[in-house]
Amino acid sequence: MNKLIYEGKAKQIYTTDDPDIYLQKFKDDATAFNGLKKDKISHKGEINNTISSVIFEYLASKNIPTHFLKKISDDEMLVKKVDIIKVEVVCRNVAAGSLVKKFGFEEGKDLEKPIIEYYLKSDELGDPLFTDEHIYALGLANKSELDVIRKMALFINDLLLKFFKEKNIRLVDFKLEFGKDKNNNIILADEISPDTCRLWDMETNKKLDKDRFRFDLGEVEESYLEIKNRVAG
Ligand code: TMP
Repeated sequence: MNKLIYEGKAKQIYTTDDPDIYLQKFKDDATAFNGLKKDKISHKGEINNTISSVIFEYLASKNIPTHFLKKISDDEMLVKKVDIIKVEVVCRNVAAGSLVKKFGFEEGKDLEKPIIEYYLKSDELGDPLFTDEHIYALGLANKSELDVIRKMALFINDLLLKFFKEKNIRLVDFKLEFGKDKNNNIILADEISPDTCRLWDMETNKKLDKDRFRFDLGEVEESYLEIKNRVAG
């Protein structure tokens, strides 16, 4: 009945009886460095489903259109069917990750204003950083669509900064994906979780996200659970 139509590194997408609704199932599998490092993080599927559900509900309450419909089991949610726009939108508030590695920023330094970056969503090509011009030339989005995406990403950043601050979490950076629904509206899709965000404890700057897995820092599941407890309490 439910047919698997897409499998990514951390999630599967299934059809449902309703042609406008998909089922998004979160896996325990974790990969890093474009699939070079692979393992499982126990209970990650359940934890990320819960965290993403809470965050999507919060964003919807602030008038952000999202694909989220309903959490239906520990590791599954129903979502609106969308055509994913193959642009990964990264928003950064604090220097970390590739900003440090590629451009020599000092890790942990607050950025004067958020930096938005675009990455081509392509496992084969290793998700390269690219520009608005590449996006138009590849026909992935036009200028007015990318303007909407950029504005939404910055607004989501404002909302999430406040949301996480209340939970004593420093939102360092995160990745968003958008899709087009059946009416061609651009809506937020994918997930928002410790897999797709850098989240540091506000007081100690302890990393509570996938960097613990990427760089073998230990306490991986514990950190994901810590975020779940603070976010979904
Ligand atoms: P980066 O510093 O490695 O470029 O990552 C920026 C943010 O994007 C970070 O919060 C992790 C997230 N991210 C993903 O969600 N998927 C990815 O494939 C990568 C490379 C980063």
